[in-house]
Amino acid sequence: MKTIDRSHLADLMAREAADFVARNPRSRALHERARGSLLDGVPMNWMIKWAGAFPLFVESASGARFTDVDGHEYIDFCLGDTGAMAGHGAPPTAAAVERQLRRGITHMLPTEDAIWAGEELTRRFGLPYWQFTITATDANRFSLRLARLITDRPLIAVHDRNYHGTVDETFAWLTDDGRVESRRGNLGPQVDPAKTTRVVPFNDLDALEAALADGQVAALLIEPALTNVGIVLPEPGYLEGVREITRRHGTVLIHDETHTICAGPGGMTGAGGYEPDMLVIGKTIGGGIPAATYGMTEDVAQRVRGRIDYEDSDVGGIGGTLAGYALSLAAIRATLGEVLTAEAFARMIPLAARWEAGVNAVLARHDVPWHVTRLGARAEYHFMPTRPRTGREQWAHGDPELERFLHLWAMNRGILMTPFHNMALMSPVTTEADVDRHTEVFEGAVAALFGD
Ligand SMILES: Cc1ncc(COP(=O)(O)O)c(C=O)c1O
Repeated sequence: MKTIDRSHLADLMAREAADFVARNPRSRALHERARGSLLDGVPMNWMIKWAGAFPLFVESASGARFTDVDGHEYIDFCLGDTGAMAGHGAPPTAAAVERQLRRGITHMLPTEDAIWAGEELTRRFGLPYWQFTITATDANRFSLRLARLITDRPLIAVHDRNYHGTVDETFAWLTDDGRVESRRGNLGPQVDPAKTTRVVPFNDLDALEAALADGQVAALLIEPALTNVGIVLPEPGYLEGVREITRRHGTVLIHDETHTICAGPGGMTGAGGYEPDMLVIGKTIGGGIPAATYGMTEDVAQRVRGRIDYEDSDVGGIGGTLAGYALSLAAIRATLGEVLTAEAFARMIPLAARWEAGVNAVLARHDVPWHVTRLGARAEYHFMPTRPRTGREQWAHGDPELERFLHLWAMNRGILMTPFHNMALMSPVTTEADVDRHTEVFEGAVAALFGD
């Protein structure tokens, strides 16, 4: 079994970092210029999290590939961290968007596409009523507001090491001794999340029971599998147990399928036949055009209807000027209707299985004790020999130095992985050759790391 030689890793990293700078003079120059007008030289602060000394500037993207301003082509397994899971510029989405641009982008009036989208979401996820937002963050925030409204309870609950967008109350985690505190890196919280939020470990039904027992928790907001700390899958019976406990305690169960849609056309909810009270999905449903949605059961809808005062609803804390706007609904209709179809998933999921098998074969050949987890069209390797059971366990095996090296090695050889962990996502137009190229490049990195 292999271990990492840290000084060898530092030497390799220095070489890759120098190669990155030498390969990308135009991106480097643009980043220098950008520092004059953009905070840290990027339009959004996460964009400095890439492994190189500066981010690549993109010239164009199409399908599962993009080209940077220095003329290098990349196979894109990041896909805008799921925003471009449908592939860059999918032709049906692009055509629908162009058509809608000429017919009016936003009017704060509904279009027929909204009805199509509501009906399709019901078919996929089972919930009868839908509302639209610009981002998944908004959809989560509004779902939590509605849950508090209809239960008259003050608190929410989440999984330890969750990520649901920039929703203030979710920025809580568990300390070593099991207390809830504001998570590391929580920037300028408006209120201490320990006051608003209960936190339970993933795959721990006893902890959930204890968190909900006093009837103070309005909503439990979960990803059916954690994806943002690294993929952590539910153990058999866990999601059924979550449903039973939340129902018994009158807590609104919200499934956030923004990433777990990779499990199939109806996400994990559709694949497993689960019955959440509310469901959120964003990012990919508009094929890259800002669009997100939240759905609810008949029961939730009825309880909501009696509580909204429509005279004050425009300042009631739910909604947004561009939410449900015509362009986004046209994009959703084309993307769900013609791009992220059941047939597309039937192509994408075997590609992720091929990626998983390729990485596993490399690990076995080099006797490296890392584990690979796959969730439908998304797969990822963890720096630990077995599958993580909780977010905390996955977090404890994080290795930012090693991760940066693997990402930079891949980028220097034309492969883009998501910057946050070791995850690859398949689009409907990713090919077997793309996957095999990743396996080849990954094997090169492993061989360089372990000296064989
Ligand atoms: C599970 C989940 N929910 C919600 C969000 C928020 O999405 P957005 O940043 O588009 O609002 C994310 C973003 O990564 C996510 O992973």
